[in-house]
Parts: sequence; C-alpha cells; structure tokens
Amino acid sequence: MTEHAATTSAEPASSLRPLPIDVVSIQSQVVYGRVGNNVAVPALQAQGLTVAAVPTVVLSNTPHYPTVHGGAVPTAWFEGYLRDLSARGALNQLQAILTGYLGSPEQAQALGCWIGQAIEAQPALHIVVDPVLGDHDHGEYVSPGMADAYRRHLLSLADGLTPNGFELAHLTGMAVNSVANVVAAARTLLTGRTQWVAVTSAAPDTWAHDEMQVVLVTRTQSDVIRHPRIDATPKGTGDLFCATLTGHWLNGAGLPQATAQACREVVRALWRTQQGQCAELLLPPMASRQDDRSSQASERVRQFIYQIEIKDFAMQSATSHLMRAYARQPVSFVRGSGARLWDEYDVEYLDAIAGVAVTSLGHAHPEIATVIAEQAGTLLHTSNVFRIDWQERLGERLCALTGMQRAFFCNSGAEANETALKLARLHGHRKQIANPKVVVMENGFHGRTIATLSATGNPAAQNGFGPLLPGFLHLPYDDIDAVRQAAEQSPDIVAVLIEPVQGEGGIRVASADYLRELRALCDRHGWLLMLDEIQTGMGRTGAWFGHQHAGITPDVMTMAKALGNGFPIGACLARGAAADLFSPGQHGSTFGGNPLACRVACTVLDIMARDEVPKRAAVLGARLLGSLKKALSGHPNVTAIRGLGLMVGIELDKSCKELVGRALAEQRLLITVTRDSVIRLLPPLICDEMQIDDIVVRVARLLSANHDLKPKNSKP
Ligand SMILES: Cc1ncc(COP(=O)(O)O)c(C=O)c1O
Repeated sequence: MTEHAATTSAEPASSLRPLPIDVVSIQSQVVYGRVGNNVAVPALQAQGLTVAAVPTVVLSNTPHYPTVHGGAVPTAWFEGYLRDLSARGALNQLQAILTGYLGSPEQAQALGCWIGQAIEAQPALHIVVDPVLGDHDHGEYVSPGMADAYRRHLLSLADGLTPNGFELAHLTGMAVNSVANVVAAARTLLTGRTQWVAVTSAAPDTWAHDEMQVVLVTRTQSDVIRHPRIDATPKGTGDLFCATLTGHWLNGAGLPQATAQACREVVRALWRTQQGQCAELLLPPMASRQDDRSSQASERVRQFIYQIEIKDFAMQSATSHLMRAYARQPVSFVRGSGARLWDEYDVEYLDAIAGVAVTSLGHAHPEIATVIAEQAGTLLHTSNVFRIDWQERLGERLCALTGMQRAFFCNSGAEANETALKLARLHGHRKQIANPKVVVMENGFHGRTIATLSATGNPAAQNGFGPLLPGFLHLPYDDIDAVRQAAEQSPDIVAVLIEPVQGEGGIRVASADYLRELRALCDRHGWLLMLDEIQTGMGRTGAWFGHQHAGITPDVMTMAKALGNGFPIGACLARGAAADLFSPGQHGSTFGGNPLACRVACTVLDIMARDEVPKRAAVLGARLLGSLKKALSGHPNVTAIRGLGLMVGIELDKSCKELVGRALAEQRLLITVTRDSVIRLLPPLICDEMQIDDIVVRVARLLSANHDLKPKNSKP
C-alpha cells in the first residue's frame, strides 16, 4: 500500500471557518453491519453532536462471518488521519475523543501520543476509551499485545473507561466474579486522569435470570445499574453503550444517569433487533420517526425499574492509624495555586470551599509563603512569658480594624470561643451572678471542645458527649422576641454568643435589624454581645467582619480560619469592661500568638487591605448569588439560594451530602454540604470573575444531572 498522507508545508489561507466537530470517534469501519463507527456515529448524532469518524480497521463485515475482507489501517495512514484533523482546525470546538476497536498495538501508541497532545492543548477535553479486547462469549478477539498497549498508552489518559467484565479481568489480572471484585478491580484503573470506569456485563454469576448489570465506579462510589436481558446477541452493543453514555455525559447528564440512559438505549436496540430477527443490531429510530415496534420497545424498557444502588466507599482504609473522626473523601491534594488544586494524579480541581473559609487568599500565596519561610528561619516560638513584638503589632492592627481594645491569641476557632466564654463567666461573677448563662442560638456552631460544643445548637454534634456544660440558653436564630422573653425570665443571662451568618447552620443570615436590636438589649441588661466571626470574618461576607453590615460593635468577638490563610491562629478581641476581665494567670496558651503565626496574620491583613479583598468579596458574592439564582431558577429540588458576600448556600428539598463526592468526581469541584440539604459555597476571596462563573456552571451541571437524592434527613 502506498502512503497518500502527503504533508503540506503550509495550510491554504482561507477565511472560511472549519467544520466544527464535537466528537472524534476512533473505531472500526465495516461495510456491512452495525459495529464501531457504524453504531457510534448515528448514536452520537442522535444527541445533536457532530462527529468525525476515524477508521482503525476497514472490513467488509465483522470477522465472525465466513468471509471477511480488508484489514487494519496502516499506522502511517492512521497517524495522518489524526494529524490532518488537527491541521484542518477541525478540533477547535472539540468536546470529546472516543476510542473503540483498534487495529494494532502500534495504533494504540500513536493514538496515545495524539491524545496526549490534544489534552495538553485543551485540558477540559473528555476522553472516553472503550478498551476493546474481547468478551466472555468469544474470548479475546484483538491482535496480541493489545491489553498491554492499552495499559501503556491509553488507560491513564482517559477520563472514563467502558470495559466489559472480560476486558476488566484482562486489563487488571484480577478476579471479577462479584460486584465487590468488579469494584476493586475497576478502582485500580482510576489512575492518571481516569475518574470513572463503567463495567458492562459485570459479574454474570450474580445476575437474576432476566437481568444484567453495569457497575459504574468513580473515585467516591460505585453504582450498580440493573437492566433487562434481551435474548439477542448482535455485535456492537458495547460500541452503542459507550457512544450513548458519552453523548449523554457531554450533554450534561451525571455519570450514573448517563450510564443508565446508555443501558436503556442498548436494551431498546436489542429489543428491536430481537423483534426484527435481524443478524445485526437494529438501532431505534430517532424520537420523531419512532415506529410502533420501537415504541413497544420503549414501553417495555420504561416498565423496567432501574435500580441504582449507591455504595459509598469506606473513606478511610482499614489500615489507617488515624482516628475515624472524619468522613473523608478519597481524594488527596498535593498542590494548589489560587483557587485551583491538583490531586496526586495531577488532576485539576476548582476550589469552592477554601478549606472551609480558611484559604481566603488562595493556595500557595507567594507573599505568605515568603513570610513563613523568612520567619521560620528567624524565630518561631519563644513563649507568652515574654513580650512578642509581632503579637503586639497584630493586636494593634486588629483593634484598629474593629474598634476593639485588647486581643488574646490562640490557635483555633474553638479556643477563641473558649476565651470568650471564660470572659462571659468572669463578667457574670463580677456581677455576683453565681450561675451565669450565655444565650446561644439553635443551629449555631462554635466548635468541638466540650464548652463550645455545649454552646453549639446542634444536637447531632452533641450526641454522645454528655454531660455537656450547663449555662447555655438555646434560642431560635434571628428572633428578637425570643431574646426579649428570655431576658424577662432569666436574670442569670450575662452574654449572647452569636454568628452574624450561621455557616455550619446552613448559611442563615441574621437581619441587620435583629443584630441592632440585640445590641440594644445587651446594653439595656448589661450583657456582653459576643460575635463569633470565625467563619464570617476577614472579608468573607463582603465587609471585614459580618457585624459591620449592621453598623454595630460587639463587646467581644472571635476570629480564626482566614486570619492565617491556613496557618493556625485564633483571636478573641474585647472592648470596654470585657477588655480588662482577665488578670495574669487566668488564661493562657503555649503556642498562641507566636511570632510566626502573628507575622503571617499581619501579612494577611496587609494583602487584604492593599487588594481591597473584602470589597472584592462583596462584588464577587453578588455575582455568584445572582448567577446561581439565574442558573438554578425553576430547578425542582432547589428551595432557596441565599448568602452574604462569598458565603452562599443552596438549599435543596433532598438530602444532598453525596453531592460532595459527586462534585469532586464529576465536576472536579470542591463544595461542602451542611445541615444535610444545603450546598455551601465558600470560594477563595481572590477568585476572578471567570472562576466564579465556572463555579456556577459546575454547580448547575451537578444539579442538572438529577441524581437520585434521598429524602431530607433520611438515615444513610
Ligand atoms: C462559626 C464557627 N465557630 C467556631 C468554629 C470552630 O473553629 P475551629 O475548627 O478552628 O476550632 C467554626 C469552625 O467551622 C465556625 O465555623
């Protein structure tokens, strides 16, 4: 064969636009039959996608017929086909590359190189690889060395893989006779870029007599999708499955839904094939041209109840020596920059939680990194027995910013609140109140130590830790009448501890009027108004501190989280009588306020003031809230979207904790969920507009995927 792949040194100048292509489908090409591109192209086109079909083999028909003509496309031709697509500019709008049957290990190698370059040019490109090797019925039917070629050149470049059970066993060398084994084997393929593996014909020994199953495995969970078994065995069902799944995924469906949809369409095609007694796969016609036979098939498929079982992976391996205090996601980040993070496989994620309102200036901020290195090389720690210059400076800066008079430094939010609570008790005892009470709010959150847990208004967090400390009165949030009533009934009240916006409590914003009236009530009764600004502080809400929106000044305020941008530091500030309550020896901390922590916090303040970070948070927050409201308007499960600055909550009428894992696996987005049904977004305050818009797009995609969420507050 001659190579006609003559390379032109220069492209002809043309003002005409190239044909836009959504998907390059690289598969077998047969003259007769429904396999490879003969299936993938119409399946993708049916979903409105434009396809360029690249042949890997050109055959008269599949090799199981008595005669077959043709063979593998020479590697040089194959490479030329791919190269020319790039040269034509046809890939400018490309969304995905899909690969099926390959003619030789050399093709796999060439394809791996070309895909690698395509990803480098367009990192968001979706790559789906169907690692065709054979099946349980026929054994291996590809050239020798193909399994190895997939392993070496293609698997880790793919976002998703669609092996059948036989291929999974071959690629991993593992047993795949049970769903658990399939999941374990598939998880070993989640390397590099690979985020999901959809295993068709999985674990046949476990099927009911008229069913089959597909197991979808992501980094966070596995879904088992059962579908009817139709008594027909034409070739090409794997190609149809892969192309249909890819099409639905590209069109915004979540992976389990795209997989279930692909199962549905394969079953419909098989039903039609069986009814038509056809030797080759009969594709269902497009909806508009649906004939009787096809609607009969749809009906049969619709009647079948697809069961999607979701099994969360154990988030921590059984051999870990860490206490099981956290339900960890199985993702581990190794580096970050601004609002972006990369995991151990170098996969990039967008951070919409900033370490839960901590890294407000983004990851690996160069000025902060420099200061940490410099101070670590100068002086880390002396002791609070001595005067610490950086602590004095930080105290002065924070008091100037807030109108407070004195600061106490510690290492965390809970410790800052412990300090505030000790001040409240001293204040009470000064007033001769033997059993002082602090008003706290239902759904409030103040920390995990015994005192702050007792102050926290969440029985689920307190469960199992009794006896809790007495001296707290839990009242409904943002309800001034409840506080007035308590004032009349409880002469022992000495202080109110409240968050201006409840963070863990589901992003509930106290009204400015309520905070002002609370201030007035505290003044009238001689109570300390103590504001927990641990999550709301340092610009998060669009002002330096949340209470500033209401134009009030507290007597005591606590902060932590973003104060050190990830370097641990907490602070309790006080003014008036509260500022002088402690005498030497009454409170202290070994590490609190050491030179390193305080210098870092001073640098955070410098950067935030210089770059007007709180103001930016207000602008970006309005953009985020507005765009989310627009993007999610009319969503059947969204009941509220609320927030202040870059502290935003999306409340659903369903339990949505599982969306944290799905957002990671499917959207590469970090979110949190609080109070079972509120998606909480706390992006770094240094995000740019494009990143804010990107968060909205990813959240909308996550929610449009219409996951089968459980009813609210249902037990797992
Ligand atoms: C409002 C509020 N207070 C206190 C805390 C406790 O802070 P830390 O975890 O640093 O002890 C948190 C933490 O999420 C918080 O959001």
